[in-house]
Amino acid sequence: MNRFLTLAIESSCDETAAAVLDGGRRVLSNVISSQVPIHEAYGGVVPEIASRKHLENVNPVVRKALKDAGVTWDDIDLIGVTYGPGLIGALVIGVAAAKGYSLARGIPMVGVNHMYGHVASNLITYPDLEPPFLCLVVSGGHTNIVLMEDYNRCRVLGGTRDDAVGEAYDKVARVIGLGYPGGPKIDKLARSGDPDKIHFKRVYLEKDSFDFSFSGIKTQVMNYVNSEKQAGREINAADVAAGFQEAVVEVLVNKSVEAVNQLFEEKNGGNSEVSKRRLVVAGGVAANSRLREALTDACKREEIELFLPELGLCTDNAAMIGSAAYYKYREEGPDDLTLDAYADLEF
Ligand code: KG4
Ligand code: ZN
Repeated sequence: MNRFLTLAIESSCDETAAAVLDGGRRVLSNVISSQVPIHEAYGGVVPEIASRKHLENVNPVVRKALKDAGVTWDDIDLIGVTYGPGLIGALVIGVAAAKGYSLARGIPMVGVNHMYGHVASNLITYPDLEPPFLCLVVSGGHTNIVLMEDYNRCRVLGGTRDDAVGEAYDKVARVIGLGYPGGPKIDKLARSGDPDKIHFKRVYLEKDSFDFSFSGIKTQVMNYVNSEKQAGREINAADVAAGFQEAVVEVLVNKSVEAVNQLFEEKNGGNSEVSKRRLVVAGGVAANSRLREALTDACKREEIELFLPELGLCTDNAAMIGSAAYYKYREEGPDDLTLDAYADLEF
């Protein structure tokens, strides 16, 4: 049996995670130690606490990933680790652990851009999916439409000019008293709300722009909540959640469809591989039920093939890092022990 095993580590925010993959797509284990209950008390991620918890968790999580996969260090061919973007104090723990393992065990190591990791969650979900493809990336720190030209190369067509969409979910959740983590809470509450009761303005920016702006909608929600309070009226949080969600989802869906259409028209009436009518989605907000539903409807209508990562791979995990590590190592080889962590790392 010709196996190539990667042990991957992810610690960019508030999840300490490790996974073992065979090749780029087959997940043998996927362990996540979430710090959500710890940060919940503070209403958001406290970076210093996150680093300390990563330090406590990283070795046990790695050990469990090896055990769950039924392998030992002797079987591991590659170590992959997220080296950015993210919280710097959190990233350095994963990178230091990866370096330590690499040096002690003599195993090559490769640093992975977290965003390529998110995109790679689709390579695991769809074993036959290959670049080039267009990808909508929606997370707590990013909102981008990118053309993945190859496994390790992409062209960014648009991005947020202010808040990321996940950040908008989290901030709006705080405004209506839902707490952290806001995205899943709004998702759930919105199901019992009326999306048409309160209209929030959709921000599309210039015509033909694939950029986004989500900071204004948070202000709109705040203004709405304050004016209702001043008028002595109770707000209906479910209607606010549903109205907010509808506004952001509509923009994400329309811009993504527009990007697919534009690329299709640009490339010889659709003859090129790049212009296949396909849309891939990645990032924590890809778990959002309304976004998944609206994208499914729109893509059906527009005859676009839609790829949504399985739910467990949308939010931060190490399996996706293992997949991205495999493809990076295959083309670019290993990093050395001077590998550093970067809070800001371009796509
Ligand atoms: O990709 P991710 O786990 O971490 C980053 O790389 O940022 O994304 C986390 C973001 C958070 O803002 C969280 O609120 C949002 O994804 N999120 C959701 C849902 N699940 C997670 N947003 C909307 N609906 C969800 N179901
Ligand atoms: Zn992430």
